[in-house]
Amino acid sequence: MNDAESRVLAEAIARRRTFAIISHPDAGKTTLTEKLLLYGGAIHLAGSVKARRAARHVTSDWMELERQRGISVTSSVLQFEYLGYQVNLLDTPGHADFSEDTYRTLIAADSAVMLLDNRRGVEQRTRQLFDVCKMRRMPIFSFVNKCDRPGGNPLQLVSDVEADLGIGIHPVTWPILTGSGFVGVADRRRREVLVFDRNADHGATLTKTTRLPLDSSTLVDMLGADTMATVRDELDLLDMAGLPWDEAAILDGTLSPMFFGSALTNFGVEPFLHDFLEFAPGPLPREADDRTVKPTDEEFTGFVFKIQANMDPRHRDRIAFVRICSGKFDAGMNVTLARTGKTMRLSQPQQFLARERVEIEEAWPGDVIGLHDRGTLRVSDSISTSGEVVFTGIPRFAPQHFARISGSDPLRRKHLDTGLRQLAEEGAVQVFYQDSIVGPVPIVGAVGMLQFDVLLSRLEGEYGVPAKLEPLPFRHARWVRGPDEKIEQLAEGRARMRLYDAKGASILLFEDDWALRHTLNDAQGLEFLEAAP
Ligand code: G4P
Repeated sequence: MNDAESRVLAEAIARRRTFAIISHPDAGKTTLTEKLLLYGGAIHLAGSVKARRAARHVTSDWMELERQRGISVTSSVLQFEYLGYQVNLLDTPGHADFSEDTYRTLIAADSAVMLLDNRRGVEQRTRQLFDVCKMRRMPIFSFVNKCDRPGGNPLQLVSDVEADLGIGIHPVTWPILTGSGFVGVADRRRREVLVFDRNADHGATLTKTTRLPLDSSTLVDMLGADTMATVRDELDLLDMAGLPWDEAAILDGTLSPMFFGSALTNFGVEPFLHDFLEFAPGPLPREADDRTVKPTDEEFTGFVFKIQANMDPRHRDRIAFVRICSGKFDAGMNVTLARTGKTMRLSQPQQFLARERVEIEEAWPGDVIGLHDRGTLRVSDSISTSGEVVFTGIPRFAPQHFARISGSDPLRRKHLDTGLRQLAEEGAVQVFYQDSIVGPVPIVGAVGMLQFDVLLSRLEGEYGVPAKLEPLPFRHARWVRGPDEKIEQLAEGRARMRLYDAKGASILLFEDDWALRHTLNDAQGLEFLEAAP
């Protein structure tokens, strides 16, 4: 790479922001996502994402499942430009039960936006996702949503979030509430107040705001002396007793800048987006087996964090989502898949603009590209020019729910096997086999029960195989390595079962904590792993 090329790469990296929104269902993630697209100019009238989602439901049983449950099962990536930044928003599925996919998506992000409901504060699902971000020391920005309707006391909310999550909070904007509701926010960094135009069209288009210095007398005229006195008192209190702005603490994930607003009416969305993009990190270095890969490294590298089959039922295609970690991506380039050492040509790469796919010519670190895949790629695969980079830290999860699966039509057993194999490669479910005299019996494992519903729905809709599940009473799984007779002996104990994964590795299931602990403590000469070796 010559100097000019290095400069272009560095500039492209500096412009990129790749993040995910973490929240509990109903906090307003879909609404906020839509408003980010609206501000990013990717859509022109809010309401269209939901409308398009509804239109898509008609075409797929799997989407039908989403519609029935009123949840988002799929996760996709949206790209838009705002204030010169190239923003990649990784959309995480919101349902509490469908977790594996969401966790993996978080690995592909460089920062997270924690969306909170102003009445409910931190909820269970937010907490789970927060823990994943914290483990990775990811910077987290907080947005307190639904301020257009009465909520809890904001000061109380700040201290509750701090106490609940063990993270420092620094409010960047502060809500201004009057008898007639949420009228504006104070911008603490700029010592200004933003007053919203309340005659807007309920958030369908950009909201107009008036920006005035905090000590402006016009504000007293507009909002009243009492309101402004309260705002000043609260800001003084935050200045004295609150945590100071500290960029280093934000970047190592110990201090979260907090913003107040309403995704529905757009109030407070713009100041949030502005500061978030300015202070959120660009593409971060990533750990690989024997090195740290910096985004500015010349070599192209990336990893697959998600595979989705049949995204578009009309095309029956399979898309592997790759997060680019370093170097420039050019359509048609050759890369080597580290797992197999095989070279592959990356043609027809796609990006996702406001849920529309477009073919792209080039992409940069921080970007996510969708590759058409015929079954070569798997979740957590690393690809690079040299084939020598193997990224670590992409979690595989030990399943906690298990069930025997069988097709209702024995003649379609091959279709069932194909479906199970493909869905397992996608990471939608884990598939194991039990030895039996009639041949291997498939057993599926999942982290959340909802994965099973999705599995059945997709097997029927995409592979034409109605199937049924017979739940098994096991709660824990461990891969086991060691002498075969020892494993066999263990499997005979109470509350256990031995299975094989698709590669023939042994796995033991345990019914309860006791069986698991007992085995781990007592078994000599065996190695137990939480994920596939
Ligand atoms: P999710 O993706 O996190 O599950 O939440 P979603 O955006 O679907 O929002 C959940 C509900 O909360 C929706 O109401 C939505 O309109 C509402 N909502 C989102 N943001 C705000 C906000 O800033 N203020 C208020 N007051 N409400 C908000 P719904 O009645 O379930 O659906 P809909 O009929 O409005 O689509």
